[in-house]
Amino acid sequence: MRTIRHIQELREAVRQARRENPGLRVGFVPTMGYLHDGHASLMESAREQCGFVILSIFVNPLQFGPNEDFSRYPRNEERDLAVAAAAGVDIVFMPSVEEMYPQPTKTIVSVSQMTEKLCGASRPGHFDGVATVVSKLFQIVQPDAAYFGLKDAQQIAVIEQLVHDLNMPVEIVPCPIIREADGLAMSSRNVYLQPEEREQALVLSQSLNYAGQRIRDQRGGLDAEAVTASVRKLIEEKPLAVIDYVELLSYPSLEAVNRIHSGDRIIIALAIKFGKTRLIDNMILTL
Ligand code: PAJ
Repeated sequence: MRTIRHIQELREAVRQARRENPGLRVGFVPTMGYLHDGHASLMESAREQCGFVILSIFVNPLQFGPNEDFSRYPRNEERDLAVAAAAGVDIVFMPSVEEMYPQPTKTIVSVSQMTEKLCGASRPGHFDGVATVVSKLFQIVQPDAAYFGLKDAQQIAVIEQLVHDLNMPVEIVPCPIIREADGLAMSSRNVYLQPEEREQALVLSQSLNYAGQRIRDQRGGLDAEAVTASVRKLIEEKPLAVIDYVELLSYPSLEAVNRIHSGDRIIIALAIKFGKTRLIDNMILTL
């Protein structure tokens, strides 16, 4: 496994791999590091489906708001490299902020409408930052396929739209949410949780399971508002949980849904704060 910190060197390494192996499928897993089993599952899917796997680790300042956790975002380079090596990654690309943004970028990639919902509403500019850095990374790596987790389902919807709208020659591969044994979706931010918050954070997956069951039992004809209200009620029982949003929308278009009908593909998405730590989770259902 090679660790590369410079764009030119990365481009040269990919060119060389493609020269040596005509028809090579290059898989790409973009991350912000502090890797856990959720990230590892993306690398493993890429490893299964591609002859060459590139992982990027870059905490992208452009996608953090002024009062968010950019400077305190958890980092552990040594452990990340061990996780990447164990997953069979060929190249880890770890550029510095100066390498990616030598001057402030004057070009921002912005996907409209669907970025105004859910996390986009509570984190203005976040998805511009994501779309811009993912566009840059795709230009640098030029992968055939890129692997993203459904933990960030809105991010996948935005990137699929971006790739479609700008005719980027890359296949987006969505991968399932990986959870702790008790159901909490794995996240680099889980390390911030105090023990009591960690315990109460189980309400995210539990309330989603409850809502999913309720929708499946009803089969269509259910009022979306009734579902989100019941999820809110469960979350409000936890004294440390502060609701940012609980929403039921169409997926991947992220449009409002009033009544749920059979055949619909919907997402129940939530963002809950415990102190300064904001956790997200979701469930996508095809009815
Ligand atoms: P990061 O939060 O590090 O996540 C990197 C990838 O891992 C994303 O595709 C995310 O959805 C996936 N992931 C995280 N937790 C997961 C889990 N529990 N199960 C499955 N997949 C999981 O998402 C980003 O970084 C950034 O926005 C990025 C795309 C790298 C752009 O900066």
